Amino acid sequence: MRITIAGGSGFLGRALSAALLADGHRITLLTRGAGAARGADGTERRSWNPDGSVGDWATAIDGADAVVNLAGESIGAGLWTTARRRAIHDSRVLATRSLVSAMAKSARPPSILLSASGQNYYGDRGEEELTEESAPGSDFLAQVCLDWESEALQATPLARVVLLRTALVLDRNEGALPRMLLPFRLFGGGRIGNGRQFMSWVHLRDWVGIAAFAISDPRVVGPVNAGAPRPVRNAEFAATIGRVMRRPSWFPAPSFALRAAMGEMAEALLLGSTKMRPARLLETGYRFDFPDLEPALRDILS
Ligand SMILES: NC(=O)c1ccc[n+]([C@@H]2O[C@H](COP(=O)([O-])OP(=O)(O)OC[C@H]3O[C@@H](n4cnc5c(N)ncnc54)[C@H](OP(=O)(O)O)[C@@H]3O)[C@@H](O)[C@H]2O)c1
Repeated sequence: MRITIAGGSGFLGRALSAALLADGHRITLLTRGAGAARGADGTERRSWNPDGSVGDWATAIDGADAVVNLAGESIGAGLWTTARRRAIHDSRVLATRSLVSAMAKSARPPSILLSASGQNYYGDRGEEELTEESAPGSDFLAQVCLDWESEALQATPLARVVLLRTALVLDRNEGALPRMLLPFRLFGGGRIGNGRQFMSWVHLRDWVGIAAFAISDPRVVGPVNAGAPRPVRNAEFAATIGRVMRRPSWFPAPSFALRAAMGEMAEALLLGSTKMRPARLLETGYRFDFPDLEPALRDILS
């Protein structure tokens, strides 16, 4: 297949494009950077300006079989000032609008749009088990996900639209895990707040497998919870890291200090509880390589 990946130069995009290339697909990345027309990894690269409009990069959409949308300003890279909130929101909505507009103007539009979203769609939900049918949350990131998904759904008349509500993706070198491991490496790791909040997570290899499965299986349509079937409480997450790394895990990070330092960002990313169940994936028969946390962490940290 010919697959175009917007925001494909990042953490998830690089892993996905490597897997798709290895499977014999032709991959074009849309990037805001200039760079060579062909990356060292075998991908083709087109520069784009994802401001909601369509540019000459649209030739990478016309005639492609599938479009994957991963573009967006990083959520955890800095404090949520007003300007950063706007960038987090608008970068996703406008990039998606650009892609969907390019699809609509194509002579041969792609028949699949796989668009990223996040578990943050559901917000802080305590003990509730969240399937794709569950109502959205009401905080800032939930609103970002709602607006981002509704832009992607504009492509519905043209394509099979899949909204990948991704959990915390675990990898040794990139994403949130390396930062979470640091206190454990320094013998000061532990639960966050009271540790009762649920964390939905997914091994990077499963995330790539889920994305490839969603591209290839026509039964996969609409929202998809892309997280392992067994989310864990934060205290269990910390204890599992401690066990796997053979480090202590009894130094809690108090919630008042996190709230004071990070404001709403602490609530949304660290203290909130999201117990997501990948109902659609289980119904359609996706087989997780890592349904349980401990083997996933042992694989990642071995
Ligand atoms: N990683 C996770 O655990 C996780 C969990 C849930 C959801 N997600 C979502 O999945 C998507 C991909 O995640 P990731 O971890 O691969 O993110 P990432 O490493 O930050 O990559 C995102 C890519 O988006 C592009 N980008 C950055 N700022 C942008 C802007 N202002 N406007 C347009 N494009 C911009 C960049 O590509 P160029 O610089 O080449 O343009 C970047 O490589 C993101 O939207 C993220 O919110 C990720």
